[in-house]
Order: sequence, then structure tokens, then C-alpha cells
Amino acid sequence: MEKILIIDDEIEIVNLVKDILYSFGYEIDYSPTGKEGLEKIKKSEFSIVLLDLFLSDIDGFEVLKKIKEVKENLPVIIFTGFGTTENIVKAIKLGADDFIEKPFNIERFVDIIQKVIKIRKLEKEISKLKLVESLLELNRTIVSLSSLDIMLEKIIQISENLFTPKRIGIYLIDEYGRNFVLRKQRIEDIKFKVRTVYDNSEFLDFFKESNINFLDEKTFFEVLLAIKGKERNIGILSLFFEKNRILKEEELKFLESFSIQIGIGIENAMLFEEVQNSYVNAIKSLINTLEARDKYTKGHSEEVVYYSILIGKRLGFNDEQIKILENAAYLHDLGKVGIKDQILLKPGRLKEDEFEIIKKHPLITFKIIEPLKLKREEIEACLFHHEKIDGSGYPYGLNGEKIPIYAKIIAVADAYSAMTSERPYREKMSKEEAIQELMRYSGIHFDPDIVNIFIEILNSEEVKNDKGN
Ligand SMILES: [Fe+2]
Repeated sequence: MEKILIIDDEIEIVNLVKDILYSFGYEIDYSPTGKEGLEKIKKSEFSIVLLDLFLSDIDGFEVLKKIKEVKENLPVIIFTGFGTTENIVKAIKLGADDFIEKPFNIERFVDIIQKVIKIRKLEKEISKLKLVESLLELNRTIVSLSSLDIMLEKIIQISENLFTPKRIGIYLIDEYGRNFVLRKQRIEDIKFKVRTVYDNSEFLDFFKESNINFLDEKTFFEVLLAIKGKERNIGILSLFFEKNRILKEEELKFLESFSIQIGIGIENAMLFEEVQNSYVNAIKSLINTLEARDKYTKGHSEEVVYYSILIGKRLGFNDEQIKILENAAYLHDLGKVGIKDQILLKPGRLKEDEFEIIKKHPLITFKIIEPLKLKREEIEACLFHHEKIDGSGYPYGLNGEKIPIYAKIIAVADAYSAMTSERPYREKMSKEEAIQELMRYSGIHFDPDIVNIFIEILNSEEVKNDKGN
């Protein structure tokens, strides 16, 4: 049943309104003062508040302001004998939903009440739909077996859209199962990078009763949501709100289901990444075996990884981007496994038709790694590592900006590593000669910015002295 609160000290009016509203099937509560009314609003759920502007204790406008601070969406109808335009404007600015003047017309009075209740019901339905839609959206991400990073991004996005907190952070358990380390954040910076206070047992105590806990700070309060896997706690979702933000009952219920779904999603994504990593590791050892067949290419991929990472770091790549670069640099020449040894290990210059076969290796790499559901950037970096800035590369003849940055980095690292290695048909180049070659083809084959950065790196102290020569 819809419950209406009347805050008014004119007892005759209150009794009249009570009678009318009872006859329409509404439940009524009543407070003669603003202070008592506010207390009641904090404690119970009302559908509407009827508020007199002139109360014996607090000014009605002040009461209205406080109601909206505590329960933003609770409709308030101003109920007064002093309905001046000035008062109406002031009340609407403070968030009043409608205005009824005393003495009132019963028909119009009931009409306004019914209209406001209808709007509130619709708003509730819409916000429920929004919450359900968000859970479904997260579910779709879980089912699509996304990477951990996409999963975390989705969780942040949903939290941001639904709750508009001041800060959002996701902490994940570290490899020792002890601390929760900040893995992703949004909006404002989160102060705590690691939640050391909760070691796993304290954390369990903390979340024993509920998946949601609250921490009070000076101007904010923090909602901590336990992220639980099947057998252990795997993380915390932290949402910071300003003190006056009240979380509604349906929002808290949503957060309960959200925490369960997040747990499933993150655990799946972690498992998926583990499987992916073990694929990548298996392929890495295959590559080492492959390169070991030939003394000229031994250790080539590892060297390309090494140079690529140096370039990536200079470009300010984050850990995730460095990981992509590392995996792609390792895998880039995997497709050579599909090329006959007579061509691949041929001690002399290749004939045109033989070179055409060699040119297929990026596509063969693509075919091998495509079913492994690696990251799109990793796959593209492998596929395009022989593309050239002027469009003269292979397999697609992409040019300029169409070549992804990872592929452009690997191209430079790969060329340098090849030039400074011995080949059956030529001596290896010195560092200086190889730099000359990179400069000659800078802006033609290679991205000039990457060449410049790489030359800076090669001339600095940070590079391991080349290959023991
Ligand atoms: Fe290659």
C-alpha cells in the first residue's frame, strides 16, 4: 500500500486530508514538526511527502532541502496557504514536485497525488530495469569469455553508470593470496594502492555477515564489495560516495547480486588468462626448439622481445601493453614452422619464388594463433610485422598509420636483430652499420619516431652489449 507522510501542524487540515486519502486507499502518517518528519523519512519508506511551508520548528524550505539530501527521489508536494509565485519558484528550485494551495479543491488534490505516485512507480520500474539490464550486460561479458582487463573495465563502467560514485577501484588478490592490490581505478585517484589491512582471514571476518561493508571517512564513505571466487576471496570493489548520498534498498540488493556475478566473471577471466598464458608458454618453447635447429636464428625471437620491450617502455607503455608486445614479439615468426627447411635454412640468396613462400609466414602465424583467442593486438602485431610505412611490405601492403604500433615496433627490433646476426650468405653488421640502415629506411620501411627512439636506446647504457662479439 502507498504510504503518505503529512508534515503539517494545522490539525483540522491534517484530519481532512487523512479522511480523503484513506477513502482512496492510501496509508497515512503524520508529523506536526519538521524535525519529527525528517526522522520518520529517514526510518521508513514513503511514496509522497505533503509538506507545509510554515512549521512551528524548522522553516519548510529547509525541511524540503533536507528531505532531498536524504532521499533525492522521494516526491515532495508543497502544501500551503501562502502560494505566492516567489514561494513556488523557490520550492521548485529546491526540488519540490508539485504545489497544492490551501484551501484546496479535493478533485485537484487527489489528482496531483495520484499523478505523482504514478510517476514515482514508473521511475522505480525504470531504475529496476536499468539494474537488471546492467546485470545482463555483465553476464554477456562473462559468457563471452573476455580477458580480465575487459571484465574489469566492464565492472567499472557499470558501477560508474549506475551509481556515479566519486571514485571506483578494483583490488585483486596478489599471487601470495595475502594482499589486495589496486588493479583498476576510475574518476579520482584512489589513495590506497594495496589494502594490507585485510589479510585473508581478517577479510573473511570483515565480510562474514554480508558481501557489502561500509567504511566512514571525513567527507566520504566507502562501500566495499567482496569479490568471492568459488573457494576464496579474490578481490574488492571499492566505491566512494559523498556523505549525503543514501544508497536505496534496491541499489543495495543490486550490489549483492553484482558482487556474486563479478566474482564469477573475474574468476572465469583469471582462469582464461591462465590457460592463455600456458598456450603462449607452450608456443614459446616450440619457438625456442624451432630456432635452435639453426645456429643463425638461435635466440632471435628472444632478442626481438628484448629490444621491443625497451622501445615500449620508452614510449611509456603500461604493463598490459608491454605484455602484449612481449607475447607478439615472441610469436611473430612462428609461421616459419610451416616453411620447408630447404628454403628457410638455405645457405644463399633466395630466388623470387622462394621469397614468395617466405612471405607467407605472417599468415601462417595468424592461422596458428587465431584459434587461441589471444588479444587482437597480439594477433595483429604478428600478422603485420613485415608491413612497411610506404606500403611496400607484406602480406597486405598496409601503409603509415594503418600499421598498428606493436607491429611497427617489432619491425624495427626484428630488422636490427636480423642485421646484427650472422647469416649463411653474409657477415653480420656492426651496431653502427645497422643503425645506418635503420636511418636509411626510416620513414620508408620503418616508423621514424620508433627508429629515433631505438637509436637513442642503442646509444644509451641500458642495452646489453651485443651478442658477445
Ligand atoms: Fe618475420
